[in-house]
Parts: sequence; structure tokens; C-alpha cells
Amino acid sequence: MLSGKHVVLGVTGGIAAYKACEVVSRLRKLGAGVDVIMTANATRLVAPLTFETLSGAPVCVDTFERTGAWDVRHISLAQKADLMLVAPATANLMAKLAHGIADDMLTTTLLATRAPIALAPAMNTGMWTAAVTQENLRILLERGVQMIGPGSGRLACGDTGEGRMSEPADIVAAAQKLLLPVRDMEGLRVLVTAGPTVERIDPVRYLTNDSSGKMGYALARAARERGAEVTLLTGPTRLATPQGVCAVPIVSTQDLYDEALRRAPGQDIIVQAAAPADYRPETVSPQKLKKHGGEALVLRLVENPDVAQAIGRQKREGQVLVGFAAETQNLTDNALRKLEAKNLDLIVANDVTAEGAGFGTDTNIVTLLTRTQAQSLPRMSKDDVANRIWDRALEIRREALQPA
Ligand code: PMT
Repeated sequence: MLSGKHVVLGVTGGIAAYKACEVVSRLRKLGAGVDVIMTANATRLVAPLTFETLSGAPVCVDTFERTGAWDVRHISLAQKADLMLVAPATANLMAKLAHGIADDMLTTTLLATRAPIALAPAMNTGMWTAAVTQENLRILLERGVQMIGPGSGRLACGDTGEGRMSEPADIVAAAQKLLLPVRDMEGLRVLVTAGPTVERIDPVRYLTNDSSGKMGYALARAARERGAEVTLLTGPTRLATPQGVCAVPIVSTQDLYDEALRRAPGQDIIVQAAAPADYRPETVSPQKLKKHGGEALVLRLVENPDVAQAIGRQKREGQVLVGFAAETQNLTDNALRKLEAKNLDLIVANDVTAEGAGFGTDTNIVTLLTRTQAQSLPRMSKDDVANRIWDRALEIRREALQPA
């Protein structure tokens, strides 16, 4: 399965380091080439010879040690890797990676590589839930580093809780998905909308909302990785355009309406994760509005066009339309009402007040609703939510294209 693929496995000083032996063994059995880099602390838990025997290659520890032929090992390994996998990944490693510290062979190679990076965190629950570790996690997720686990369960220190390294079989399964992405969207043209809109009040003031664009960008990235041709209509965000995606910047809901309606007929699947403002100021002042000594400023807001509804009206045979419902109560009823009103095939309902869901978070908690089915998903990364949405949209498309 993995012949021709090369994994550089980083092993850091967590007690779960001994489980990395099974990770190497499983990867080798699947035909992958494996080079192991250990941190100095890891060598105090498992002898390098163990990994050399299992991987069939010399183990690297220190940037400046000479091992055989003189090649700049951290550069050659960085270039050789199809995947950089760190298992276990300690809190210390996560902190160094999040902040670009490169003071040993592993961190230097991680900084130099252009290959995907996946971490299998392993640490005490207190370290995992510490604010600084969670902030480092947020930074790494935002950079597209894949997290495998951690799970919950009995920890080496005797506690029970989050922070336990995923099992070797799960780590290898996740690595396999990263090494052999399923390209089941080749040939499809998809349109994704993401982020907030900006509705001007005057040259220096505007109305907007808390959408960061992360959900939409995760959808665009996932579709691209699965082989689709992706157009991303995006409001103003701080996010980098996902590789290979055609990003079209928009500002107001009217802009989004114009760009989306123009492109919609040529799309196979449209997923609308953007948060377009429902209202805009009736008039936009050409000059900055001046204060009048304590008088209230009254803004008259008028309704914006409903982009999803307009797309729904011109839906063509075989096209799949997916919308979101950002709710704070009566999630299912409100979502199903929008599904009908906008002629959607699938609506992704999320309670934007729930911890770990909605605006700005790296995770989301959603329910996928069609007219006949409801599928509630647990909290997971927006990348994983994105793939589940595409899985469901492809199912609907297959059903729609089947002869009656
Ligand atoms: O961007 P993030 O920070 O990652 O946050 C993600 C998210 C919370 C924005 C996302 O998960 C989400 O819920 N997006 C939809 C937000 C929204 O506008 O929901 P709504 O229930 O108000 O709108 C319902 C649907 O109609 C949405 O698909 C929306 O894109 C669309 N709509 C809404 C208003 C409008 N004028 N035109 C539209 O097309």
C-alpha cells in the first residue's frame, strides 16, 4: 500500500516512545520507507538501536553528528519525506514547532521540510489542557499541521483523562490517509463561500460579523486535496489561500451575490459557509459621520439579497447545493426551514454558542440535515468536518444522478 512512500518519524521524550516501535514496524510492513529521528530525551527511553533494527536505517539524533556519507542530513531527510510524523509529540516539541525553534535534528528537519506534518500528542492531561499548549495547538492547526488524537484514558502518571497518545494502528491509519489521499472529486467543479461580509456605514466605519473564514477555507482545502477544481468566494479574512484554490475576494453581501450568481450555473457542488450580512445601511455616507453633542446616531438598515435563496431558485439538474445554519436555539427546526426556503439538498446546522463550535474556532460541532436524514457529528476539527460534508454531498450527488 505504501511502497514508494517515505515517512520521517520523529520520536520525542514521552513515555509512549516505546509505542513508536510498533508504528515503525507497521509502516514498514505496509511497504513504506522509514527514517527515525530521536530527540536526546527519547534516547533515554528507547535505545536508538531498536529503531535502527526496525527501520533498517541509521537513527539521527544530533544535527552535527557524522553518520556515514556526508550529506546535510536534516536537509536530505526533509526533502526525502512524503510525510513528517512525530509520535509521541511532547508539549515541548509542539511549543518549539509552533514558534520555529530548531535546536536539534528533529526540529531542524521539521522546519526545513515542505512535506505534510502530523503530530500524535502524548502528555499529562494538565499539560494538554494548559492554556499555552492549547494556544500552540491552535497555531499549529491554523498552519495545517495534522493532529492525530490525543485520546483519553489511563495515563502513565496514573491519571485518567485527555492526553493519551493514539494507538499505533490509528496513527498508521491516519498516516496512510495523508500519504494516499483519496482523490474522489477529480473532475468536479465546486464553489465554496467563506468568511464575513463588510457593509459600509461611511469611509471609516462598517458592519461585519465574527466569521474568520476557517470553516469555508477547510472546505476549499479538503475539496482541492480530493482533486476538485475549487473556486472560493471569500470575505475579508486573515487566512492564507489554500494551495491550488482560486480565491475571489468579495466585500459586501451584494458583491457575494453578484460573484456567486455568475458562477453558480457551472458548478457541480456549491457549499455556502460564508456569513453574509442580512442587512446593510440604507445609505453609505461619503464623509465620516460627525458626532452631534450627545445626540444618538440612528442607522436605518435595509435587507440584503439572500444569496443561497437566489442560487436555489436557479438550481440545475444534478447540482448539489449545501448551506449552513448558524443558530443559537431550535437548531433542527430553524435549519430545516432554511433548507426548504433556499432549496438546499443539505444543510449543516451549528449552534454557534456551543463551546468549540461556530465562529473563529478550529473545531466545529455540526448536524448534517437533509429532508429525510439527520446525522449529528461530535466535536472535531473543521478539516474533518469539511471532509464529512464532502462525503455526504457526494452521496447525495450519486443518488441524484442515478437513473430513476
Ligand atoms: O468562518 P468561521 O469562523 O469558521 O465560522 C464558521 C461559521 C459559523 C460562519 C459557519 O459554520 C456558518 O455557520 N456559516 C453560515 C453563517 C450564516 O450566515 O448562517 P445563516 O443561518 O445566517 O445563513 C444560512 C445560509 O444562508 C448560509 O449558508 C449562508 O451562507 C446563507 N446566506 C445567509 C444570508 C444571506 N444574505 N445570504 C446567504 O446566502
